[in-house]
Amino acid sequence: QTTSAISRHLLAWYDRHARSLPWRAPPGGRADPYHVWLSEVMLQQTTTATVAPYFHDFLQRWPSVHDLAAAPREEVMTAWAGLGYYARARNLHKCARMVSHDLGGRFPEDEAGLRKLPGIGPYTAAAIAAIAFDRPAAPLDGNIERVVARLFAVEDPLPGAKESLRGLMARLVPTERPGDFAQAMMDLGATVCVPKTPKCMLCPLHDACDGRALGGAGELPRKAPK
Ligand code: ADE
Repeated sequence: QTTSAISRHLLAWYDRHARSLPWRAPPGGRADPYHVWLSEVMLQQTTTATVAPYFHDFLQRWPSVHDLAAAPREEVMTAWAGLGYYARARNLHKCARMVSHDLGGRFPEDEAGLRKLPGIGPYTAAAIAAIAFDRPAAPLDGNIERVVARLFAVEDPLPGAKESLRGLMARLVPTERPGDFAQAMMDLGATVCVPKTPKCMLCPLHDACDGRALGGAGELPRKAPK
């Protein structure tokens, strides 16, 4: 199948099966960049189920990036308690201050601008550019790596295969709805294309998947021995 057929099938599946997560815009609506940024930083090393109540709590206390920037550092650290990896909270606060004080409260819309902010690496920059600003960026998290490795039957082990997976993902990203496409890949990886026993019978990419055709989707991606 062509890459555009693949993204079309996946988006049609997403329209029916998208997980309803608190930081997502309602269908057809626009996601708030502040919400997208906050959720992506919280989700960097933490599951969606753990993040959801913290996300609500932060927005209740600090409804805008200006509110968060004006909060005392200690309050932000306390509100973060339980999420772990506390450097994320320090960078979150620093980033809020830069966006509020230096950028008039507006997040940069492209990956290069986002990468300059504290706590925003390549994955988070691509996720925000795609989800908040509908830029054709190609975020690559663990779920997306797995989906791409299976779809194209990439046998090279991680972490070495990472750059070729990124290239394959970039070729799949559609010009229309790139943010939904990124989140559809995440949802497919989290609910269907799961690590040990993928549910290939439920997969919208069943017919396009080389890993499934070759009979070994569940074994991909391979990992280099440590
Ligand atoms: N994990 C990281 N970002 C996510 C998002 N936007 N939706 C679902 N899972 C995610």
